[in-house]
Amino acid sequence: MKYATRIGSVTDVKTPCLVSSVSQARRVARAQGELKVLDAALRDFRDQAGKVALVQLAAGKGVQRLLVAGGADSELDAANFRKVASAAANALKTLPVAQALWALSSAKVKGRDLHWRASAGLAALANALYQFAQHKSKKPENGGLTLRTVQMLADDRGRATVQRAVRQANALQQGLDLARNLGNQPPNVGNPSYLLKEARKLSRLENVRVTSLDEKRMAELGMGAFLSVTAGTETPARLIVVQYKGGKRGDAPIALVGKGITFDTGGISLKPGANMDEMKFDMCGAATVLGATRAAAEAKLPINIVTLVAAAENMPSGKASRPGDIVTTMSGKTVEILNTDAEGRLVLCDALTYAERFKPRTVIDVATLTGAVIVALGSHASAVFSKSDELATALVEAGEWSGDRAWRMPLWDEYQESLKSNFADIPNIGSGGAGAVTAACFLARFTDKYPWAHMDVAGSAFKGGAAKGATGRPVGLLFRYLCQQAGR
Ligand code: BES
Ligand code: MN
Ligand code: ZN
Repeated sequence: MKYATRIGSVTDVKTPCLVSSVSQARRVARAQGELKVLDAALRDFRDQAGKVALVQLAAGKGVQRLLVAGGADSELDAANFRKVASAAANALKTLPVAQALWALSSAKVKGRDLHWRASAGLAALANALYQFAQHKSKKPENGGLTLRTVQMLADDRGRATVQRAVRQANALQQGLDLARNLGNQPPNVGNPSYLLKEARKLSRLENVRVTSLDEKRMAELGMGAFLSVTAGTETPARLIVVQYKGGKRGDAPIALVGKGITFDTGGISLKPGANMDEMKFDMCGAATVLGATRAAAEAKLPINIVTLVAAAENMPSGKASRPGDIVTTMSGKTVEILNTDAEGRLVLCDALTYAERFKPRTVIDVATLTGAVIVALGSHASAVFSKSDELATALVEAGEWSGDRAWRMPLWDEYQESLKSNFADIPNIGSGGAGAVTAACFLARFTDKYPWAHMDVAGSAFKGGAAKGATGRPVGLLFRYLCQQAGR
């Protein structure tokens, strides 16, 4: 989808479809002499957030159709505005129009400015209009969508603000789509080599360079934990490095590190069969850090970013790691693998040590790390763990702003006591509950060289059931965070 800005007012524009509030719709209908048509069409309409009505006006006039969004005339809070916007965006999806004009940015939203209102509308559109039909034998044109462009209506005063939101939304859309496409890829296609191939395409963008470490190089560096995860598979692992240099030469980069387990069977600690297909989504951390990097590069943010993707497949076989195996990490610490299904932290700990060489000012890892985080937070929030109040707050606020929300969890030293091994420096699983926290505590042992945050997105990165698919979260949060860091 393409987004653009259109300057004007609802009564002087030409469009096949205007997305508007009830009062805006009335102004249009009055100006076109079709108030009776509108009133008849809206007779039973409830003007509430989440409701929409489609009204056909006589062809040949300025506005051919009105997509009326309920609730958009009253003062809304942020959550209700998102509800209004996503109902409208979902209704737009089904219409046989190539172009639509979005007039909802002028709504009143408590404590939110025009840039936010335009951005929230655009985010609703980006989320609703995504399609993934790559593996259907009959591929509908444009993914089954007639719609190709959505214009955001702005008046002269709001022009620059809306244009900025539109520019950022186009960049965000590229990043979100990349993350969702990678996540949805079946595991026989979306393996570590595929992730590398797709990451390499980012080097078409200005200031982006992509390199990778193969298993031989990882062995030389002493990444024994990472390599223990890939031991059981025939598919080679990769540590992918994407460098975006939009900032000044000497500026320390922000490092993003993604868990890229392209399929997680659990290994010898085999998972049960039910819903195991969803473990293709175990690379969503990787997909979203690549997506956020793409969005940042598309938006030409004036910052430096290093993105590391720990890509491997976790399979059982005669060569696979066993529960009880002890491996040595790149940091020198030894780990007793008590459960081969706690593999994410094993690939991440070596990637986090590798991150040190970029002298990053901040490191954020993103991982579908634990089932326990789903017990704690469900799917509405990603979990944020950090010793840095400033970093945790910045991430939670970026989530609040973007609607891609996150919630802070504790990382207190007391929890570290549950990581005790009789035979190695640490075990790869904790005891005594709080599985999402103890997983974060494991990673914390490898991050004392820089300010660090961990995001567990096992509940937010994908949906199961009828709506099964990658959500692209937390690309929205990360992109907002990166824009803030870049002063945009
Ligand atoms: N990839 C899983 C976590 C996960 C579970 C993600 C459900 C998405 C949905 C992770 O590798 C895992 O298996 N974690 C184990 C850890 C346990 C063995 C300590 C878990 O959560 O059960
Ligand atoms: Mn696992
Ligand atoms: Zn996993």
